Formats: sequence, structure tokens, C-alpha cells
Amino acid sequence: MSEEKKEEKQCAKWEPYMEMGHPEIDAQHKTLINEINKLCKELGNKEPDAEKLKAHIKFLLGYAAKHFATEEKVMQEIRYPGYLNHYNMHRWFEKQVRNLVNDYVKFGPTHTMVVRIHHLLVDWLVSHICGTDGDLRTYYKAYMKSTMDSMAGEDPSSEV
Ligand SMILES: [Fe+2]
Repeated sequence: MSEEKKEEKQCAKWEPYMEMGHPEIDAQHKTLINEINKLCKELGNKEPDAEKLKAHIKFLLGYAAKHFATEEKVMQEIRYPGYLNHYNMHRWFEKQVRNLVNDYVKFGPTHTMVVRIHHLLVDWLVSHICGTDGDLRTYYKAYMKSTMDSMAGEDPSSEV
């Protein structure tokens, strides 16, 4: 008889291409992915535990807000041309989450609610990290390279 090994289902997986090269943002993305998987695991239960769901959502929301603030600060520092669009996406997400939380308080963890939580928190955040943040990643890497190149090209003896 074969032993049925239940593989842990992961909604999101950290991949090396996601590395931006900014230690704080990279660490935050890893934490977000980890938390998304915890939430996903709870959502996958036949009857999700309302208290656990609430705790996961609360953590994710607080963490996403902190992470958005970090990203926005970095985008401003490097004068990222896609800043406004990216900033608006963060605000859109927060607005949707506010609606979701209000409905959750009203209706509790109904099936529809579970689907909405999954769609918004899991799908949106994962595609945001992989997609929208991908454009920022590319720009950030190019920005850092050109900064390093121009520093390397400076002649220290020319300084008076
Ligand atoms: Fe972002």
C-alpha cells in the first residue's frame, strides 16, 4: 500500500527572480508570501476558523500597509517614473480591503467572503509582487547599476 503523502499546498512561492536587491523590500516580500500561504491554508479548510482567519487578515493588512510605505519611500528616492501608477494600485488595494473587512464584520466568514478574501489578498498580492513590483525591480536594478557605474567612473584625484 502506498503511503499517501499530503503535500502542503502553497499559494505563493518565493522565486529567485523576485529578488530586487533591496534587502528590506526583499525581506518584506518573503514575509508577505509566507503569510499569504498561512492564510491560504486556513482558507482551504472546509470550515475556516473565523478567529484564525481574522488574525491572518489583520496581520496581512498591517504588514501590507507597512510594506507599501517602504516601497513608496524607495520609489520616491530613486525617482521611479511609474510611482503614481504604483502608488494608486496600493491605494486601490487598501480601499478594496476596507470594503472587504466591513463586509466580513457584517456577514462573517461566508463562502463568498472566503472567495473574496482569496481573490483579493492572495491573488492580488501575489500578482502585484510578481507583476507590478517586477517593473519596479527592473528599474531599481538599472538605477543601482548606473549609480555604481558613475561612482566607479569618478576620479577621486579630481576632487579639490
Ligand atoms: Fe507594490
